[in-house]
Amino acid sequence: MSRLIVISNRVSVPKAAGAAGAQGGLAVALNSALREHRGIWFGWSGQETAEFTGHLDMQRNDDVTTATIDLEPQDIDEYYNGYANRTLWPLFHYRIDLTEYDRNFGEGYERVNERFADSVLPLIEPEDLVWVHDYHLLPLGSILRGKGVKNRMGLFLHTPWPPTRLLASLPFHERLVASMLEYDVIGFQTTEWLESFMHYVQKEMGLKVNLDNSIDYKGRRVVARAFPIGIDYAEFTQAAASDEAGAAYKALKSSVRGRKILIGVDRLDYSKGLGERFEGFARFLSDHPDQAGDAVLLQIAPPSRGDVASYQQIREDLERKTGHINGAHADVNFVPIRYVNRGYPRAQLAGYYRAADIGLVTPLRDGMNLVAKEYVAAQDPEDPGVLILSQFAGAALQLKDALLVNPHSSEHLAETIKRALDMPLEERKRRHSKLLASVREEDVIHWREQFVRALAGKDRNRDAGKEG
Ligand code: ADP
Ligand code: G6P
Repeated sequence: MSRLIVISNRVSVPKAAGAAGAQGGLAVALNSALREHRGIWFGWSGQETAEFTGHLDMQRNDDVTTATIDLEPQDIDEYYNGYANRTLWPLFHYRIDLTEYDRNFGEGYERVNERFADSVLPLIEPEDLVWVHDYHLLPLGSILRGKGVKNRMGLFLHTPWPPTRLLASLPFHERLVASMLEYDVIGFQTTEWLESFMHYVQKEMGLKVNLDNSIDYKGRRVVARAFPIGIDYAEFTQAAASDEAGAAYKALKSSVRGRKILIGVDRLDYSKGLGERFEGFARFLSDHPDQAGDAVLLQIAPPSRGDVASYQQIREDLERKTGHINGAHADVNFVPIRYVNRGYPRAQLAGYYRAADIGLVTPLRDGMNLVAKEYVAAQDPEDPGVLILSQFAGAALQLKDALLVNPHSSEHLAETIKRALDMPLEERKRRHSKLLASVREEDVIHWREQFVRALAGKDRNRDAGKEG
């Protein structure tokens, strides 16, 4: 079995028991994946250094070896806060209105990708498989090729891939996408993002896509495929069955004194549709005054990317909105929205999910969304809650038995909340058992195995067979 070198912007070592869990789908998924695979996880430490030295900090924790570098303040500004989170993230989530095009960001992005390449290079041995993650590092594979790396290399993008006409607004978009074609495998969360990528390479680059979704480019063959990411089902259900989860369940239930609970758990990000979600809930409260005092929305939203203005803005907007809605609908012994800006240990989170009658997962755009899957996994199969899921989350393509909503429509959200609250037990169980089967079968181990198999080139025959 080849060794894996995983490369991502953020390296999140497994936390000590009881500590707040890693936030972000990538961190959660990779910790599970690497634990079973001997290999190295390389990336940014999250720390700042006055001057970049390339010094590698190697550590071994809970069966995962990590190698990290510190970055200079200018790198963090231009690469992480800049090109990654002020240019690519909004653009890839269809928010062209928030997308900033700044030459310095682009230069910082290339510089840091170079620095990543130089630092990881000495760790790569000839038989290693190199697996790069996410929008921070799209050109890394091509830079490594330029430095002589011949290994099989793959990229997995955790975000959506935008429509061609949106991507075309990015200066030097052709160069960025061409650099991606130096990987052997390019993975997307869903067929929707895959198709969008294929549309781009055909329309903008004039390339031909083969029947097996491979592209021949400069004498090499690149395979592009969808690999929907899942959760660590075994780990999560174990966390959900723990005493800690049980205590969290009881504490939340007793605090609402018989009211129904709706739960939202999201990084505080404009792509998650939190404002629209709150509006939808407020509309439900106004439309159904008879039920208004019977339902509480618990929104857990740890702050994210706080140095970026659009994130500061969404935080302020949500504080204002929560204040308005609570002001209009609260009573002396009842507040409709509990808005909490912090992280929780995974077992505690699982207990909260289980206590909730409705999981509200309503992003405006999301590559996949793991919270939807965690909510399903945490339910009691004999008395499960109802998942309300945005039709614009990648997860909606798999979780078809959720109640799918248009997150932009407060009317549709309000109606769907009403429908979920009134749903008979039989229907809840029927929907949940189908959702659970999908979450259990398409878990993170399945995802990793599929990707690594493609990366190792082991399913080339299978694909060729399909073609014929
Ligand atoms: P994204 O990757 O955009 O953050 P996902 O839904 O795919 O969105 O993944 C989010 C992950 O972060 C989930 O595993 C979720 O449990 C975790 N998470 C989000 N908020 C919290 C929180 N407050 N405490 C602990 N974990 C959290
Ligand atoms: C999403 C991205 C990840 C990122 C995570 C947390 O899941 O796809 O690449 O790590 O959000 O964001 P942050 O900026 O805190 O790393």
